[in-house]
Amino acid sequence: MSVSMVIGAQWGDEAKGKVVDLLSQTARLTARFNGGDNAGHTVINDYGTFKLRLTPNGFSNPNTTCIIGPGVVVNLETLIAELEMIRGAGIDLSERLWISPRCHVVMPYHPMVEAICEMAKGDASTGTTKRGIGPVYADKVSYNGIRLVDLADETTFRGKLQAQLQLKNALFKAFGQEPLELQAVLDEKLKQYASVRGMVREPFGLVQQALKGDASIVLEGAQGSLLDNTWGTYPYCTASTVVSGGVTAGLGIAPRWIKRVIGVAKAYTTRVGRGPMPTELSDRTGNILQNAGKEFGTVTGRPRRCGWFDADLVAFSTQINGFTEIALTKLDVLDSLPKIKIGVGYHPLGKKGRLEHYWEGDARWLEGYEPEYIEMDGWMQSTGNVRKFSELPARAQAYIHRIEELVETPVTIVSVGPERNATIII
Ligand code: GDP
Ligand code: IMO
Ligand code: MG
Repeated sequence: MSVSMVIGAQWGDEAKGKVVDLLSQTARLTARFNGGDNAGHTVINDYGTFKLRLTPNGFSNPNTTCIIGPGVVVNLETLIAELEMIRGAGIDLSERLWISPRCHVVMPYHPMVEAICEMAKGDASTGTTKRGIGPVYADKVSYNGIRLVDLADETTFRGKLQAQLQLKNALFKAFGQEPLELQAVLDEKLKQYASVRGMVREPFGLVQQALKGDASIVLEGAQGSLLDNTWGTYPYCTASTVVSGGVTAGLGIAPRWIKRVIGVAKAYTTRVGRGPMPTELSDRTGNILQNAGKEFGTVTGRPRRCGWFDADLVAFSTQINGFTEIALTKLDVLDSLPKIKIGVGYHPLGKKGRLEHYWEGDARWLEGYEPEYIEMDGWMQSTGNVRKFSELPARAQAYIHRIEELVETPVTIVSVGPERNATIII
């Protein structure tokens, strides 16, 4: 048995989808354990280009069973459309996908509640993906959630929905919005549930069986560690546990089984949504990164904020997740830059002195700080066709080694393009 986790080391969109696809070529199981359709994981494989929100990225390997673990919140509409898209590429997952009946269901009122909260907070809003992810997890922890298992029984579902609509419609009324109608929501969800019913089955036994054997299991984290609900830049974060520890509750795998924890980090930093981002560049270099890296949100299409690699953040991610290695992605995006900076810690705005670390403060604290940088020479050469570490320009090798030193973890995968083969395995 070999269990590998793939976790975002920054603020999401680090190219986890590509790394999971690579590792899944030999995987017996691939599983999602957190988040919902706020995730957008791009994968380019023999079947085409896919931007997956819920389906684990082992889907293209016919020998891989795909699992949506109980820690994931499921938007049935998104899931059905995604399975349809995959079927269109010639892959039928009905036998190979297992969705836990414990998964909470995103209901039509969740994005509506989220929109009201975001509006009420005005300039302090989080800038979410508008998928209702915060409210569905809030309902889960406050015992107001509706799970897939509830949809299996119409009477149970009706009772729970009725109670929730009583609460939610009162809120909508207070904010001058149309209430939701019980029967319409009920019919819609039951119809959607019927089309995935065969795949809703608890994967726990399957996972435990695989752990006993010598199969390889790949766990696909969603979002990035700085978006974690506890350790991220709260309240500019997401609603689930993103860090590696989340897999214990989110899938039911005990910590002792995890062998590899692969932190996926871009060779620079991006962020979508609001909140502090110390190494953000609002100048020409920021634009170069955005254009060369095609940095537009996979789910919302929003432009991603871009900046230098922040080693303090990735070092924190390494500690909190226990990264055994780093997959450094999108190195090619830096190809044209004559000088490249790396953030190595923070000091209060305008006051140099002792370097402080991300974990010492919170999101508001971070806004009053600026990064300290080291500067390196760029390699000014294309790396997109390189497939061996020794064939990378010497300055690119030096950049990677510097990151390894700063985050005290080896880089074992370097990605130099979006395709599966544009990868250097070290
Ligand atoms: P995820 O959410 O972590 O899976 O990442 P996304 O799929 O949201 O965003 C990563 C984007 O970068 C996708 O459009 C990928 O196709 C693309 N990509 C992945 N690796 C590389 C790379 O090494 N170089 C370049 N230029 N693009 C890459
Ligand atoms: P992947 O898995 C990047 C961000 C949103 C927002 C905050 C809260 O593709 O890396 P939410 O909708 O979760 O309540 O939004 O979190 N966010 C992501 N940013 N990649 C993601 O997923 C994200 N999932 C959520 O932009 O700032
Ligand atoms: Mg993404």
